[in-house]
Amino acid sequence: MTESEFILKDGFEYPNEGKVAWKAPSNIALVKYWGKKPNQIPANPSISFTLNACATTTSLAFKKLDKKSDTFSFDLFFEGKPKEEFAPKIITFFERIERYIPFLKEYHFIIETSNSFPHSSGIASSASGMAALALCLLSIEKLANPTLGEDYLKMKASFLARLGSGSACRSIEGDLIQWGAYEPISKSSDLYGIRYPFKVDSVFKNYHDTILLVHKGQKTVSSTVGHDLMHEHPFAQQRFQQADHNLNKLKEVFEKGNLNEFVNIVESEALTLHAMMMTSLPYFVLMKPNTLEIINRIWAFRKKSKTHVCFTLDAGANVHVLYPESEKKEVFQFIQDELVAFCENGHYICDRIGHGAKQLKG
Ligand code: PMV
Repeated sequence: MTESEFILKDGFEYPNEGKVAWKAPSNIALVKYWGKKPNQIPANPSISFTLNACATTTSLAFKKLDKKSDTFSFDLFFEGKPKEEFAPKIITFFERIERYIPFLKEYHFIIETSNSFPHSSGIASSASGMAALALCLLSIEKLANPTLGEDYLKMKASFLARLGSGSACRSIEGDLIQWGAYEPISKSSDLYGIRYPFKVDSVFKNYHDTILLVHKGQKTVSSTVGHDLMHEHPFAQQRFQQADHNLNKLKEVFEKGNLNEFVNIVESEALTLHAMMMTSLPYFVLMKPNTLEIINRIWAFRKKSKTHVCFTLDAGANVHVLYPESEKKEVFQFIQDELVAFCENGHYICDRIGHGAKQLKG
């Protein structure tokens, strides 16, 4: 699909009012997206596990205005309370998608949103939040044009969500999502995420992700700033090539269920993301001392136990501990015995691979 195929055609009758709602999951990248070109185009392809427990629920009530407004008209409630701070993000998102959703200025919207994970857990809600909002808007489009197929709607939801937050385009479907033009996958695109099309061994179908909340405050660096730092970065080109290379290696890993190689790739990707931040100008260390403690203990336990537990990180201090279903008992015991002590207030979230967003109303 090309960008112009996401532009709405004229001639449909839009409902006067109504309400739609979606629950969209978060996702965790295995090969990381870090660095972008204009219009939210990724500098390299990425792949992620869709999560299950970490999700955003958003309802969108809409009512036609007497006449089209010059500005976007909406009220926003986060966890039941008005949330002015989120308005600029929504306005930027609406500005970016207006070309594809031209009815935005014809309605007053009431956006009510909440996260399944605790507020200020240090978990970014932008991926699940933008995905849920994009899906709500597409439900309105579908009310006007019921002939639109599921595949088109999912693709367009991913396309729109990307314009809100890049990684949000991987939060529409499950369970393994690839985003970014990448030659060996003919259907891959910079514009939206797709379900990974190659064979995936059943060991990856029930993967666990226990998220250790090492630092629950605001991230030191926003991902926007982080992506920008890749522009003048001395190692940028090598990094982008490495992402391609890792995606290539994962094909066989997924096909054969090669957990040892999976661990190597996933941990190297996490550390490379952090290395990029440490070697940019200005430079940042996003890990906390407890992040490193956890990593060292995972390595020691893996060696001793011969399990395949591994970690990945997003652009912050929290640690995602990944392990297969067959090793759940042993690894979870280890997490409780040794790792929870390094979490802020002992907090962690038990998540696992999930199957994508769900419509709740509309
Ligand atoms: O979606 P953004 O712009 O917040 O970027 C997210 C980037 C990482 O989470 C660090 C990596 C990824 O691929 O999700």
